[in-house]
Amino acid sequence: MLDVLGSLERTHTCGELREANVGDRVVLMGWVAKKRDFGVFTFIDLRDRDGVTQVVLSSEKATEAHGKAKTIRGEFVLAVKGEVVKRDEGAKNAKLSTGAIEVKVEELLVLNDAAVPPFQLEVAGSENLAAEETRLKYRYLDLRRPQLQRNIRMRAKAVKAIREYFDDRGFIEIETPILLKSTPEGARDFVVPSRIHTGKFFALPQSPQILKQITMIAGFDRYYQIARCFRDEDLRADRQPEFTQLDMEMSFANREQVYREMEGMFNHVLKLIDITLPAEWPRMTYAEAMRRYGSDKPDLRFGMELQDLSEVLKGTDFAPFADTLAKGGEIKCVVAKGKGDYSRKHLDELQEFVKRYGAGAMAWIKIGDEITSSLLKVLGEGKITELAAAAGAEKGDAVLIVAGKKSVVAASLGALRNEIARREGLIDRSKYECLIVTEFPMFEHDDETDTYVAAHHPFTSPMDEDLEMFKTAVDDQSQHHLLGQVRAKAYDAVINGYECAGGSIRIHQKDVQALNFKALGMSPESASTQFGFFLNALEYGTPPHGGFAAGIERTCMILCGTENIRDVMAFPKTASAQDLMMDSPGVVDPLQLDELGINVVEG
Ligand code: AMO
Repeated sequence: MLDVLGSLERTHTCGELREANVGDRVVLMGWVAKKRDFGVFTFIDLRDRDGVTQVVLSSEKATEAHGKAKTIRGEFVLAVKGEVVKRDEGAKNAKLSTGAIEVKVEELLVLNDAAVPPFQLEVAGSENLAAEETRLKYRYLDLRRPQLQRNIRMRAKAVKAIREYFDDRGFIEIETPILLKSTPEGARDFVVPSRIHTGKFFALPQSPQILKQITMIAGFDRYYQIARCFRDEDLRADRQPEFTQLDMEMSFANREQVYREMEGMFNHVLKLIDITLPAEWPRMTYAEAMRRYGSDKPDLRFGMELQDLSEVLKGTDFAPFADTLAKGGEIKCVVAKGKGDYSRKHLDELQEFVKRYGAGAMAWIKIGDEITSSLLKVLGEGKITELAAAAGAEKGDAVLIVAGKKSVVAASLGALRNEIARREGLIDRSKYECLIVTEFPMFEHDDETDTYVAAHHPFTSPMDEDLEMFKTAVDDQSQHHLLGQVRAKAYDAVINGYECAGGSIRIHQKDVQALNFKALGMSPESASTQFGFFLNALEYGTPPHGGFAAGIERTCMILCGTENIRDVMAFPKTASAQDLMMDSPGVVDPLQLDELGINVVEG
């Protein structure tokens, strides 16, 4: 028989009681985290949102309560009434905030029972957690773990701090619709069929990009929103199909003014974990970041910059290198400090690793008592010594070399740099290194279709210096390739190697916007069908404007010190975009499909 709560009210949470409360009569309510039975005494760790308190039931002092306790198991829901007593010195638990006291129970109410949880909630160390799939299926149980409770609470604090920041600075929060027309951010849209307009579809926002620009045309001047975004794209450890952005936009602003808001917001939010970032963050152009780190989001908590060996290898007759240089490629390396003793097996593993990023192979030099190298036979000892010196390697180091197309060399060595730092513990986890990466390319070349796609999104303005080149590249087909060189007023905010925010100054002139759609291969008709409303709006006095969006999850990953995005979301999806708890996506009733005029074709 379960007890009823009745008019009983709790006096404290399970994380609140201290020695100063000794002698108080209290009522606590929560879940059974642990029960230990010692005959005369039964100890229960009672858990709620705030912490854990040990409560004690004695067969002599509270016979009825002690008897009831026999039937309870983990995750039962209890209310206890009793007196706070000091624990004996030897029985104190320094790991618990309430570890100096316990509650001597006089009355016990069993408010609800609980099935045996499919996995153990209380484990020491995250490596002992149950499989993530099981935990996602029973997310409500997983969320009871103190770690996740802390993360989700931290997220709420972060969102509050963001609102505080923008409210104080005259930004206005405006909600934009979820049922939209496509807002291209480089992913596929999630579409929603319309019943009333059979055969027509809404698209869920990949971001509120166009609408926030329209709020600038509408004269709001400074907008922000905590916005849900939906992107049907390949998932990674730091990506979800549905995520949240702090989205902001401001009128009459140059890039520096937007950077100031980006810095100001992140600096305000990081105060939550007592981290002070510089008032003005370092800046680095995209070109420099790619050259030095092989990444547009370099983790600056460690060095290991990429070194260029192309100059030393000029004129080599070793075919793979000679070919690379002849085709305008690069030969670069990273130096793994003190890793001159890497085994063959280890080097093979690293080679497999870089191959995932498109590298054909990875050459190596190890500087032990003597120099050994996978290139010794083909280049000779003299050249190898010269290469090691050019790489800045010293005795005891390993030099890891990749040759190929610039983009492949950057991607593979950039990833290798991170991988080695992680494996070898080179990252100082107490450090927070921030950076604003500027002057991103305006376009990326899609080799498969031989077309240019927007590197950020199609509303990003080219750099003033590159505007003429941009116009030439669009208007003169023979100069189309110049699109690859046009830089944009686009920027990212990077913290500890995570792209936490991205943004740009926008195109505010209709003709430049139309030109950009043309650059992206859109006919005037299709530009008009898709974005006619926006081109129209641009005609009515659009102020120069720009802004950025920050990933709330990425920001919270930094705040909570986790590398798993699901650790900062209450109800995340799996890497294959499913909700295991609700078992979605799921099938819908044929009647519903009928109404929508949809016919599902199997397979
Ligand atoms: P962007 O696409 O760079 O810019 O997104 C901004 C920030 O949102 C986060 N983010 C994600 N987080 C989790 N899962 C995802 N799938 C995901 N995709 C992006 C990142 C990223 O930096 N409209 C523009 C912003 C602008 O120009 O103002 C935009 O959405 O932290």
